[in-house]
Amino acid sequence: MIRWYPELPSTQSAALRAARAASAEGSVFVAERQTAGRGRHGHTWASPPGAGLYCSLLLWPRRPVADLLLLTLASGLAAADAVREACGLEAEIRWPNDLLFAGKKFGGILIESALEGGRLCAALGVGLNLRPAALPPELAPIATALDDHLPRPCDRWALLQALVASLARRYRAWSNGEDAALLAEFTARSRYAQGLEVVVGGADGYRGATAGLEVNGFLRVRLASGEVRTVVSGDVRPA
Ligand code: BTN
Repeated sequence: MIRWYPELPSTQSAALRAARAASAEGSVFVAERQTAGRGRHGHTWASPPGAGLYCSLLLWPRRPVADLLLLTLASGLAAADAVREACGLEAEIRWPNDLLFAGKKFGGILIESALEGGRLCAALGVGLNLRPAALPPELAPIATALDDHLPRPCDRWALLQALVASLARRYRAWSNGEDAALLAEFTARSRYAQGLEVVVGGADGYRGATAGLEVNGFLRVRLASGEVRTVVSGDVRPA
């Protein structure tokens, strides 16, 4: 069921609240605007009214919390599939889950989990920037919006329908443990997975070449010294 709200602090909070009320898996929470949209690593997600797609799915995963990174990777593919289907655009996927055009981010995924009644529940949130005019100007150097790359405005409803369908498909595959196929597809579709010179982390980061994904979705980076490091989370940028 899709619940569409004019305003929410965060669709993530709405999904997790619904989990506390034992709502059904697959409930979808969408907001026209979020007043406290959340991104990864404690960032905020700018969510001006009608300018993006802000949605969260409530899930009751049947796999342990350590496997949620693989679901994150799968969700990035699902979002890219939906953008392709609804808008005809081929998005770039940056490990683990950013969607980009021309090196600028327009979409992101956030999975937050909790235990409710001894069961793992999760809010799978997707934010996609659609209307460029509404983006905060300070984000201009790093962010973009779908409409900037389209001849006519993206149909938000068509995009939401494609997104929910592709997330459901990918979630089923993840639940069935189809990890090898997922990792192979992610590696084929993201240039970040293999052989890209990157900088990991902020000012005190390190540089190396990406060297594939581990079975749990972590990213391997080979330094010039030959040492291979495992990136568990965090920023990975082209060097
Ligand atoms: C990221 O940092 O890249 C993840 C951004 C996720 C934003 C979406 S918008 C819908 C959902 N509700 C939130 O508060 N965050 C996610």
